[in-house]
Amino acid sequence: MFPIVHKRRLSRSVYEMGVQAPAIARKAKAGQFFILRTDEEGERIPLTFSDWDPESGVISFIFMRVGKTTHQLSHLETGDALADVTGPLGIPTHVDGLGRVAVVGGGVGAAVAYPVARAMQEAGSDVTVVLGARNADLLILEEEFRSLGVDLIVVTDDGSAGRKALVTEPLRELCETGAIDSAMAIGPTIMMRFCAETAAEHGVPCVVSLNPIMVDGTGMCGSCRVTVGGETRFACVDGPDFDGHEVDFEELMSRQRVYTDEERLADAEYTEECSCRLE
Ligand SMILES: Cc1cc2nc3c(=O)[nH]c(=O)nc-3n(C[C@H](O)[C@H](O)[C@H](O)COP(=O)(O)OP(=O)(O)OC[C@H]3O[C@@H](n4cnc5c(N)ncnc54)[C@H](O)[C@@H]3O)c2cc1C
Ligand code: FES
Repeated sequence: MFPIVHKRRLSRSVYEMGVQAPAIARKAKAGQFFILRTDEEGERIPLTFSDWDPESGVISFIFMRVGKTTHQLSHLETGDALADVTGPLGIPTHVDGLGRVAVVGGGVGAAVAYPVARAMQEAGSDVTVVLGARNADLLILEEEFRSLGVDLIVVTDDGSAGRKALVTEPLRELCETGAIDSAMAIGPTIMMRFCAETAAEHGVPCVVSLNPIMVDGTGMCGSCRVTVGGETRFACVDGPDFDGHEVDFEELMSRQRVYTDEERLADAEYTEECSCRLE
């Protein structure tokens, strides 16, 4: 069992959690993820490390409540435990020798963008972070990014925090003015697609962190397969980072919708039997 040692609510549906997992905390790197089960009967879900501390043995992660398992997870508290945690999985994000780089974090993607931006900065890059959300309530980690000392551009769709814009607008400006050598986009698939297209228009390389459905996380089941540069790749072992100009986003989005009916049913059944009524 993996004891939960801290939990914090970051917004209405986003939580941060810390779990004691010393062997994993010793090896984790920015951009990697792990797979957890809340209990013996639970579904396996992948989540990215938002932080890790080899000394205390604690791994931290940030998750958005979107369906049954993340709803169950949101009810666990400090002192409870997860049934299992497997990781670290995936190839760490390439952070060395990037020069001037923009890291775009949209929605809960900010949780992944944070350790990535920190690692790039520690590796000597000049990092600009574009932090975006639909509105101020959904904006997370603004203070944490500020304390890194990176150049920070905050945008919201409705203008309730920062500038009223989509993340692609400041990204376009950074590309147009020649202020960056490369970009990395992390967030909803549609956002990553438009970031990659924006960067491509200006000949700027753009890495994306893909989040297809995953089951085993070890390259065995094939559920996370994506087409990159016309070739089949498995996001769990070959990624999750890929060249955004080469990803077949249309196929990825269609594969992400494969279990929509089952997910809706499972969520509705769990919400019905759960007494919290999604406060
Ligand atoms: C490499 C990777 C890293 C991720 N990191 C984070 C993170 O740091 N924070 C975060 O909030 N979310 C992250 N996700 C997404 C997270 O795994 C899903 O939100 C979660 O599995 C949803 O489960 P659910 O039962 O609550 O919702 P469901 O109702 O089952 O699904 C809601 C949506 O989540 C996605 N999803 C469902 N099951 C899986 C699965 N087994 N694998 C991947 N996606 C799934 C689907 O797109 C689905 O439409 C990551 C996904 C991947 C692949
Ligand atoms: S999750 Fe099974 S092959 Fe990647």
